[in-house]
Amino acid sequence: MKVYLAKHRGFCYGVKRAVELAEATANSTENVHTLGPIIHNPQVVGRLADQGIAVAEDLSQIKDGKVIIRSHGVGPRIYDEAKASGLEIVDATCPHVKKAQQAAAELLVEGYKVVVVGERHHPEVKSIVEWSKNTATVIETTEEAQNLPFTARIGVVVQTTFAGRDFDAIVAILKAKCDEFRIERTICNATEARQGAAVELARTVDIMIIIGGKNSANTSRLAELCHEVCRKVFHIETAQELKKEWFEDVKTAGVTAGASTPDWIIKEVVQTMEQLGQENGQEISQLESGTILKGKVVSVRPDEVFVDIGYKAEGIISKAELAYPTPENAAEVVKDGDIIDVYVIEAENEEGNVKLSKVRADKIVAWEKLQSALDDGQPLAVKVTEVVKGGLVAAVFGLRGFIPASQVGLRFVQDLSQHVGQTLEVLLIELNQEKNKIVLSRRAVLEKERRKVENEIFAKVAVNQELQGTVTRLADFGAFVDIGGVEGLVHISDLSWQRVKTPAEVVNVGDQVKVIVLKVDVQARKLSLGLKQTLRDPWFDATENIAEGMLVNGTVSKLAKFGAFIKIKDGVEGLVHISEISERRVANAADVLEVGQAVKAKVIGVDKASKRIALSIIKAQEDAERAEYQDYLNTQDKQIGVTLGEKFGHLFKRED
Ligand code: F3S
Repeated sequence: MKVYLAKHRGFCYGVKRAVELAEATANSTENVHTLGPIIHNPQVVGRLADQGIAVAEDLSQIKDGKVIIRSHGVGPRIYDEAKASGLEIVDATCPHVKKAQQAAAELLVEGYKVVVVGERHHPEVKSIVEWSKNTATVIETTEEAQNLPFTARIGVVVQTTFAGRDFDAIVAILKAKCDEFRIERTICNATEARQGAAVELARTVDIMIIIGGKNSANTSRLAELCHEVCRKVFHIETAQELKKEWFEDVKTAGVTAGASTPDWIIKEVVQTMEQLGQENGQEISQLESGTILKGKVVSVRPDEVFVDIGYKAEGIISKAELAYPTPENAAEVVKDGDIIDVYVIEAENEEGNVKLSKVRADKIVAWEKLQSALDDGQPLAVKVTEVVKGGLVAAVFGLRGFIPASQVGLRFVQDLSQHVGQTLEVLLIELNQEKNKIVLSRRAVLEKERRKVENEIFAKVAVNQELQGTVTRLADFGAFVDIGGVEGLVHISDLSWQRVKTPAEVVNVGDQVKVIVLKVDVQARKLSLGLKQTLRDPWFDATENIAEGMLVNGTVSKLAKFGAFIKIKDGVEGLVHISEISERRVANAADVLEVGQAVKAKVIGVDKASKRIALSIIKAQEDAERAEYQDYLNTQDKQIGVTLGEKFGHLFKRED
């Protein structure tokens, strides 16, 4: 039995985004809830529960932490209530749904009677109605459209997953029910693409398996549509529901999945189907060269492999026909019991054996697999076999793929040979079977991973948070620090409390450092970090004993138009304003002072909040002059006292 996958299947963009956002929000130290199940898939909901994400039916069940709004979206009331309860909102509403909600709100403002075409009990439709301030009318069927009274202006919004055919019929009726008609085509392509691909495949196969939650409207719709063109259609949630008897006499089977079905469930289903198909395999009476069959490995020798293909004789695959590159030992590629695709090279040779090739079968199947990997954007695991001019060669599904040197890493990799023998995860970026061209990119996978890590970090990082990081590079204006997948910049002014000329005075590449988050710009993906902020500002210690009125000695460190900076001690400078330099009028500080000159100044102000010390040379000189004068007076007093004493002392002498 051959199993075919529908071209478009499984997670749509909005669902994938919602699940990834939920996973990135999972946090062991905080409560995280989704408001209702994140998607209609119990297995995915179960996986998220394992990561600590609980499901709350309404906001009253959430006391604190984060609430994730699922892809269906909610009305404005929920946002208001969540904010009022102090909950942090993680908005996973699908952007297409958001567009429909906004359209409803705008149509109302513009004076239209808002009509929502969709299923009235669907959470998305309920949310759209709420955004129309609960004024919208929901129309589900052509009959309901017929019953709508005549209105001057009708503005239509559609549930994103509504079936296109019904929609056109409803629109035709609504147009005749008003003078002015406006339609916002908010149906999402993902639904139509999945439906179209499912029907296209269902027409060509003996059985169709539809995977998805039993309560998922879009999956049920897929099953309905496939039923119209295929005799045997089964809607299942997991591989465990597959039954062997479904596949009796089946040569071709199709698989598709609703928008809430993850890839890992689809893979499990396909594998189980292939196994069941094999178990149902019939005896082959006639064998033709060039046929591709499924076979079961029954014996593995170092140089050859024996395969049961349901024929009177077993098939033999030589080591060279087993895989690309040719393995040292056949056991590196297959083991007893494996189910593999085989190509019949020779139906029966002189010895009565069937010569098979796994490489050739893989090659034919490989192009199909590659095409579907390209369509889905799924990463592939490939083994690097050699370095060639301009890049690496890697084995992909037994074919030769090329990874250009520029696509090997996030930065240019000098020594490509380090990757030979490694298995790398890559994305297909070009495929051309006619030209035998398979171009792969590891860089695309790394960029995707980096974006995911970035999303996770930007979802959690907050201003004033202290983080550990590694210095990755230095620039004139600062140092870049990696905080676990995202690089932030420590500006040179935030490296040290001292003034530094180059970042290298403080840090080196590779240093482990503690940093404080100063600014987060999620849109621009920029993070400003501070290193000096993790340390106590030495200015406060150094200035502890500096008070207004004190005289200080210092040296001129910098001259400016408005005055002179005086270094009082390491890391402490004061400013002498130009008006405080000299009694004489000074036009420019440089006219009377020079850098390095020793000066005495008086502290006339200490502003701890702005870390400013105001100094005055004039007042220091005045103090010095005053002190000198006082000294003089004191000396004079003493001299006068002595002279008068000498002169008139006898007048005051007591006569005994
Ligand atoms: Fe969004 Fe379309 Fe999926 S509306 S949730 S991308 S089906």
